[in-house]
Amino acid sequence: MDSHPNRRDFLKIGGAAAVAGAVTLRSSTDASAAEQAAYSAQFAAPPIELVRVGYVGVGLQGGGHVTNLLKIPGCRITAVCDIRPERTEWATKVITAAGHPAPAAYTRGPRDFERMCETEELDLVYTATPWEWHVPVMLAAMKNGKHTATEVPAAMTLDDCWAMVDAAEKYRKHCLMMENCNYDWPALMAFNMVRQGLFGEVLHAEGGYLHDLRLIKFENRNEGLWRRAWSMKLNGNLYPTHGLGPIANCLDINRGDRFDYLVSMSGPSRGLQNWAVDHFPEGAPQRQEKFALGDVNTSLIKTALGKTIMVQHGTNLPRPYSRINLVQGTKGLFSGYPHRVYIEGRGRSDQWVDAATLRAEFEHPLWTETAPKAEGAGHGGMDYIEDYRLIKCLREGLPLDMTVYDAAALSAIVDLSVRSVAKEGRPVDVPDFTRGRWKTTPPLGIVHA
Ligand SMILES: NC(=O)c1ccc[n+]([C@@H]2O[C@H](COP(=O)([O-])OP(=O)(O)OC[C@H]3O[C@@H](n4cnc5c(N)ncnc54)[C@H](O)[C@@H]3O)[C@@H](O)[C@H]2O)c1
Repeated sequence: MDSHPNRRDFLKIGGAAAVAGAVTLRSSTDASAAEQAAYSAQFAAPPIELVRVGYVGVGLQGGGHVTNLLKIPGCRITAVCDIRPERTEWATKVITAAGHPAPAAYTRGPRDFERMCETEELDLVYTATPWEWHVPVMLAAMKNGKHTATEVPAAMTLDDCWAMVDAAEKYRKHCLMMENCNYDWPALMAFNMVRQGLFGEVLHAEGGYLHDLRLIKFENRNEGLWRRAWSMKLNGNLYPTHGLGPIANCLDINRGDRFDYLVSMSGPSRGLQNWAVDHFPEGAPQRQEKFALGDVNTSLIKTALGKTIMVQHGTNLPRPYSRINLVQGTKGLFSGYPHRVYIEGRGRSDQWVDAATLRAEFEHPLWTETAPKAEGAGHGGMDYIEDYRLIKCLREGLPLDMTVYDAAALSAIVDLSVRSVAKEGRPVDVPDFTRGRWKTTPPLGIVHA
């Protein structure tokens, strides 16, 4: 699967980061000072006192990030880009209302972000465009000397995953995938409990994106304008990173272990066709649309250390929301939706404990420290926390909470699941985007606000 068999050794970054990974180590005692220093030298960039941001794609999710950034000290949105001038006008209005100078607006079509990246003095280009634009925006940013961050998934093809890695290494810039689900309280709490050893050795994990998007996919605006098209084109897991992000951290993916290979299967495609028949009049073009995407896709990933991961995608059927978020160890497990915990020897045998009742004891400090400021922000506050961490790490010259290798490995599951589904569920190898560095990269630690 690796189309880059003779790739050069990873460039030592020293001074300007190639990649990210917000992470202090598990604890200062778990890794030697030398390991910690080596890690920071590779994954941190020089501190930036005031982070100048160019935002590309200020729709629903981008609009939320703009609103968050306006509340975070030490950053300014100095440029905005969208193919819809009404959205840059909206952004200009909220930015000036917050007391900042009006940003430069780039609205000359779908590649105008290139002009923005070439023209503007920016520290960070952050994008929440439709999926097909994430990598072009990030490549333009890094080529022009800017750090970059993207909404999820970072990339839809293996070639684009490698393109991100190549550019981050070549230009020595952060290339971060903004996986907000890593910052939800149950995900943070499960990770905190894993780090405290409460579940023993983690052997298996499950995640998913199970979200009834039928209405959204058929809307004549926002995601309806582009997300349904992907359901016509690909059959696999189109959105793996929300489910995988938190459990990949618990399994030390790219930091002691890595995705090795996967098998993937999709069931039939019914939900979108049925929705169209139920909601559009006879003769409407939507009723003629054909969808490649199976309504439930299930992938199994085996890690290099032999651990197992189940990741699901289901966006076309009626159901309550779930990201599953299960982490199973030798001594117990965390399971999401509803969030519950079982630890052998603690509580009653065979009985779940409601995770909410353990929050006072096991809440991740990052949540405790940031939740009051995150109140009212998108997706229960986790979007604010991820934006806060990004700006803080850039300002302090710290490694970010994920690396470009994480962006590539998690996003690669899109293309790999499609390939396995097309081959009747046969195994496909996951490229080692780190080229062996996963063996020596220290694990993520418990970070603070
Ligand atoms: N992390 C989350 O919880 C979460 C939630 C929703 C969406 N998202 C992600 O955010 C991204 C955007 O989703 P959304 O819901 O905001 O969609 P949206 O359609 O509301 O917003 C996309 C915006 O990008 C603009 N755009 C399109 N092509 C462009 C281009 N070439 N240059 C500049 N602007 C362009 C559109 O005009 C629109 O304003 C997607 O990657 C999606 O997966 C993430």
